[in-house]
Amino acid sequence: MIDQVAEMEVWPQESPLSYEVLLEKVRDAEGVLTLLTDRIDAALMAAAPKLKVVSNLAVGYDNIDIPEATRRGIVVGNTPGVLTETTADLAFALLMAAARRVVEADSYTRKGQWQSWGPMTLLGQDIHHATLGIVGLGRIGAELAKRARGFNMKVLYYDKIRRSEPEERQLGVEYVSEMSKLVSSADFISVHVPLRPQTYHLFGAAEFAMMKPTAVFINTSRGLVVDQKALCEALKARQIFAAAVDVTEVEPIPHDDSLLTLDNIIITPHIASASVTTRTNMAVMAAANLIAGLKGQVPPNCVNPEAIRG
Ligand code: GLV
Repeated sequence: MIDQVAEMEVWPQESPLSYEVLLEKVRDAEGVLTLLTDRIDAALMAAAPKLKVVSNLAVGYDNIDIPEATRRGIVVGNTPGVLTETTADLAFALLMAAARRVVEADSYTRKGQWQSWGPMTLLGQDIHHATLGIVGLGRIGAELAKRARGFNMKVLYYDKIRRSEPEERQLGVEYVSEMSKLVSSADFISVHVPLRPQTYHLFGAAEFAMMKPTAVFINTSRGLVVDQKALCEALKARQIFAAAVDVTEVEPIPHDDSLLTLDNIIITPHIASASVTTRTNMAVMAAANLIAGLKGQVPPNCVNPEAIRG
C-alpha cells in the first residue's frame, strides 16, 4: 500500500532501531510508521522538518509527544478497534492461567515433579462466580466484561467516566465510585487504562495492600501504570495470590529483574494484540493512516485531527 504512493525505507529487523538511527532516518521523511518502541519526542520532530504524519502500529501512543506533534501540524494515527477483542482474549487467558497456575503446572510436569495425584497439589482460585474488578472500562475493558459474564463472574468497574445506565446493564457491570473500593473487594483486578501522567503508578504499595490475599492482578495496558517494585514486594510477601502481566516498566524486562524469580507471576512479552489476523489488520490500518497523512489529509484513525484542521 505504501510503496504505491511513496518512496519508502523499511527497517529490516524485528528488533527496533535505536533512537539515534531513527533520528538520522527521519531527517528528510514526510511520514513515519512507528512501533510503540519508537520514541517520537520534540527533539526528533525538530530534526524532521518535513514530517507530516506519524502512524503508530498500536492503539496506545504514549511513545509520541502529541501536544508537540499538534503544535507542528503533524497528524498522529493509531490502530483502535481492530485489536480490542484480541487484547481482551489475552487478558482473560492471563486471568485464567494465573488463577489456575497453568504455567507453573506445566513447568512442574516438565521438571518431572508430577509423582502422583495430590489433593493439595497446585491449588488455585476459582474463576466462575468470582468478582472481577475492571479499572478502565474502555473498548478493551468492556470486551473483558463480556468474557467474564460467560464465566458467571460478577463484574465491577472503576473509570473516571461512568458509562450510561443502559450500557452498564447491557454489559452487566456495576460502577464503583472509588478505585480503592473496587481493589479491596474484587477477586481479580484487571487494568485497562492508557498511560498518562495521571495513570503513572496508579497501582502501588497502597493498592496492593488493600487487595485480598487471594487476589489475582492482571495488567495488559502499560507497565508504567504499575509500580513494579511494589508489585514484586506484594507477590513475594504473598500479600496477593498471583499476577499476570503482558507489559513491564522496562521492556524487555531485564534478565536480572526480581519479578522473574517469582513463581506467582506470569510475564508475557507484550503480545496482547499478537494474532495473525489482528496484526495484519493493524498493519493495514497503520498504512492507511500514513498514506492519508502523506496526502495532507486527516488519517482515518487520528488522535490529533486538530493538528491540520486548525
Ligand atoms: C499495544 O500495546 C498497543 O497499544 O496497541
